[in-house]
Amino acid sequence: MTQHLHLQLRNISKAYPNGVQALEAVNLDIQRGEIFGIIGRSGAGKSTLLRLFNRLESADGGEICIHGIPISGGRRQLRDLRRRVSMIFQHFNLLSTRTVAENVALPLRMAGIPVAERQRRVDDILRLVGLESLRDSWPSQLSGGQKQRAGIARALVTQPEILLCDEATSALDPENTLAVLSLLKEINQRLGLTIVLITHEMDVIRTLCDRVAVLEKGQVIEQGEVWRVFGDPQHEVTRGMLGTLHHGRAENGEQLDVGQQFVTLHFNGVNGLEPDLREIARVLGGSQLIYSSCEPIQGRIVGQLKLRVEAPLSAETLRLAAGVADRVAVQVG
Ligand SMILES: Nc1ncnc2c1ncn2[C@@H]1O[C@H](COP(=O)(O)OP(=O)(O)O)[C@@H](O)[C@H]1O
Ligand SMILES: [Mg+2]
Repeated sequence: MTQHLHLQLRNISKAYPNGVQALEAVNLDIQRGEIFGIIGRSGAGKSTLLRLFNRLESADGGEICIHGIPISGGRRQLRDLRRRVSMIFQHFNLLSTRTVAENVALPLRMAGIPVAERQRRVDDILRLVGLESLRDSWPSQLSGGQKQRAGIARALVTQPEILLCDEATSALDPENTLAVLSLLKEINQRLGLTIVLITHEMDVIRTLCDRVAVLEKGQVIEQGEVWRVFGDPQHEVTRGMLGTLHHGRAENGEQLDVGQQFVTLHFNGVNGLEPDLREIARVLGGSQLIYSSCEPIQGRIVGQLKLRVEAPLSAETLRLAAGVADRVAVQVG
């Protein structure tokens, strides 16, 4: 895929009237057709950032461009922007007194699209999200997953080029989460839509996103391809969010006898190294596997493998061990 810059943020800052500095010097380049994830702790500024893209919030400084054109125009440009940049929400935001089809038609009504055209487009989009049989149902009759599919249909009915998702699966059970995620992936691939999503579920980033940015106190502290950021996080905050992938599991009374050591083998994907158990056994001899957090991300294996070995390891063994992983850490007692 040739790279084509879609959304660009330059030196964006935003303070709320109460003095909270929500964003500070944020720079982001989002490519056309990619699924870009934003993660960060609660209060980091994620929602504020996303809401700048369709001007639900405005920045105090810096510039946001779509296809190289600043989005800071007047009323007409704002209306056009809202059509091109749609949003879905954690709690779906459907009107309870309107049917599914009426909810989905709402943006078209507001845009003054004639009835016949409206109905055709609503039916098309309901078919795409698999809700055609529920077009005349009320939101209260839908499951969470169906509500979010209606939310997605409403967002897509204006034929946007960018879809913003703020914790879109956080209110769903695991099964519906998977269904909504695969729908988002399908939309991304079939319609070539650029998707920017916020989530606190690292699995969503791992399975869906091409690249990810980590926000902390209103600043981007790291960003890059998902396997890179997850495989070798540079910031303690990122490691904290990734949990067991890098912090290891909480010690479960795993004891070391006299003359034993823990050896942790880290895999970050950069050199394409994978945990080759036969090779590891050859190098480390009679070791015992305590746990593995290794997992494939975008075709690369990242994570760590913790072993209990007989101590002390010779300098030669350590030298060999350095060849079977990207980083080797030894812990005594
Ligand atoms: N409308 C608002 N008025 C004042 N402060 C706000 C407003 N919205 C968010 N904030 C503050 O801005 C910071 C970032 O909030 P937010 O973007 O919602 O973070 P996140 O989505 O990462 O949890 C927080 O400190 C939050 O309390
Ligand atoms: Mg938020």
